[in-house]
Amino acid sequence: MNETINRQLNHRSIREFKDADISDEIRELLLNIANRTATSNGMQAFSIIRITDKEKKAKIAEICKQDYVNRVPEFWIFITDQYRNAKIALEQDCFEDTRGDMDRFLQGYTDAAISAQNVVVAAESLGLGTVFFGSILNDSEEIVNLLNLPIYTFPVVGLGMGYPNQEPQLKPRMELSLKVFENEYKEFDSYLDAIKDYDKVLSNYYDLRDTSRRVDSFSKQVVTKLQNPIEKRSKIFDVVRKQGYDMMLTYLMEDEIKKMYKNAPKDMKEDLDFHESVSGLKLDTMVADLFEKFPYVEDYLLMINPKFNKLKTVVSAQELRKMTLESLANLAEMPADSLIYMIESRISEE
Ligand SMILES: Cc1cc2nc3c(=O)[nH]c(=O)nc-3n(C[C@H](O)[C@H](O)[C@H](O)COP(=O)(O)O)c2cc1C
Repeated sequence: MNETINRQLNHRSIREFKDADISDEIRELLLNIANRTATSNGMQAFSIIRITDKEKKAKIAEICKQDYVNRVPEFWIFITDQYRNAKIALEQDCFEDTRGDMDRFLQGYTDAAISAQNVVVAAESLGLGTVFFGSILNDSEEIVNLLNLPIYTFPVVGLGMGYPNQEPQLKPRMELSLKVFENEYKEFDSYLDAIKDYDKVLSNYYDLRDTSRRVDSFSKQVVTKLQNPIEKRSKIFDVVRKQGYDMMLTYLMEDEIKKMYKNAPKDMKEDLDFHESVSGLKLDTMVADLFEKFPYVEDYLLMINPKFNKLKTVVSAQELRKMTLESLANLAEMPADSLIYMIESRISEE
């Protein structure tokens, strides 16, 4: 045990700060620690933008929907940054396409994230309080505009720092046994049962952002979060793509899928009141039976449309047994007859 580890084990996010700036000396030190952090491939594909302009900060606070952003004495935004290296390559007449691939994006993303955390450890060891702001991604496109981010860059996380003016409770974490496995991933028979104790412990935690009530149990928080996605955040990869990154996805794009509908056997195309396909598929055919009879269909579905990834959760929740082709189509948000046409086209290839 040493002082730094003690502080790490007592980490809590700080959201209210004393009205005192961080000295230039400490700021320089923290920036140097960010710079000294390990970096993937040695490429240093991240940058930090210090937000000192009050108006800009206010606009970011609005995006975050967190007023306390305005009161953070020192505010940095970490970005994944392949632009600098692309320019370095370009000035040597190198136009390699890989500068905009997702591997580069993630390399910079990891660099940015771990260097931000490295700063947190150092800042806390100096008695500073810190808070991350993932909420900058509520509207990543607006952040891109506000910060004038060029192609091949993208915001990762904001970090607020200052001298703490609050003493929040230590926020409980779930047991390590739920998160740390040996050699392979461990599945639990019932996750609700496994987090039963944690649910109780977390319900006794008071979030200083709303002191009037205890927080919900963890299991309730999970449901609330999953049921209330922020639309712009769900579509974040549209902005990533606008920033020049090519996802090189291998599933088929919508227009290609549409082309495949046209390839469906002629008599099926005209049969809008669909009853049964050549292979005997109907709207009420059980998906489990389909997969048993045509095992390659499952992989095929996952390849053509990422929405079918939901299948994986359904399978592990053992809901598949109850699922018909019609409900499968609903899951993928596509017309059931089109789905059957596509499956039929695939079967006819075998
Ligand atoms: C990537 C990331 C993004 C976060 N974004 C926000 C945020 O936008 N606003 C906020 O107040 N806290 C944010 N936090 C802090 C978490 O809410 C906090 O770490 C978590 O609730 C656990 O609390 P603790 O840090 O006090 O232990 C973020 C943390 C991480 C790691």
